[in-house]
Amino acid sequence: MIEAKNLTKIFKDKKRGEVRAVDDVSFTCKKGEVFGLLGPNGAGKTTTLRLLSTAIRPTSGTALIEGADIVKEPQKVRHVTGFLSGNTGLYGRLTAREMVEYFGKLYGMNKGQIVQRTNQIFDMLDMNEFADSRNEKLSTGMKQKVSIARSVLHDPPVMIFDEPTSGLDVMSSRTIVQFIRQCRDDNKCLIFSTHIMSEAMRLCDRIAIIHKGKIYFEGTVDEALEQTAYDNLEDAFIEIVGV
Ligand SMILES: Nc1ncnc2c1ncn2[C@@H]1O[C@H](COP(=O)(O)OP(=O)(O)OP(=O)(O)O)[C@@H](O)[C@H]1O
Ligand SMILES: [Mg+2]
Repeated sequence: MIEAKNLTKIFKDKKRGEVRAVDDVSFTCKKGEVFGLLGPNGAGKTTTLRLLSTAIRPTSGTALIEGADIVKEPQKVRHVTGFLSGNTGLYGRLTAREMVEYFGKLYGMNKGQIVQRTNQIFDMLDMNEFADSRNEKLSTGMKQKVSIARSVLHDPPVMIFDEPTSGLDVMSSRTIVQFIRQCRDDNKCLIFSTHIMSEAMRLCDRIAIIHKGKIYFEGTVDEALEQTAYDNLEDAFIEIVGV
């Protein structure tokens, strides 16, 4: 479970001065739930997810991940989360399988666990065809799958995905959407960011709408639609954030 409590991140930017990327953000994402963090470019989605993953520290506020505090217990948090960031570099000279296995070792898994879990995830994400190709030869979608596989190899209860389907074709997106659904069925807590409203409508049990660092809405897609009397999330979104 994820409980964000008044999370705030202020960047000090030489040109722009203080940027309130995330401003007093609170929400809850439970087990067995796919939670969508929706917002336009620059809304604060990536910053929020990086805070949750402990990649950066909040200016104020905090979050609990499976009860562990992101500020006070970052090691514990890392142990129970898998984080897919937008710009994970892959080692070009390693194959997809070698890359994922390497991360398994970093997670402290033994050889048997690594092999079993790698096979499972490569099946789920339809990766077997390119499992033994070097990363430098893979397409964008294939690389994204490698990044997902390595971020969740240790089977964490909490998964944090920043724009998991961005830049992917229909087939790859669908595979990843199915993977996310499977995680929900396995009682994981999964938060992902997107600006694609149709994807959120299809996939999310609940959503939060973020704009200029602030949360404008938290609830189900149906509740968002009811609140605005629109039948699609795009129009509802625009009314909710008032742009
Ligand atoms: N390291 C940084 N230094 C200064 N400003 C930053 C930094 N990282 C992010 N920002 C600013 O914080 C705000 C939120 O950025 P963020 O990357 O979280 O948005 P986003 O919702 O992920 O957008 P996108 O959809 O484009 O990925 C933006 O104004 C951005 O310029
Ligand atoms: Mg982003």
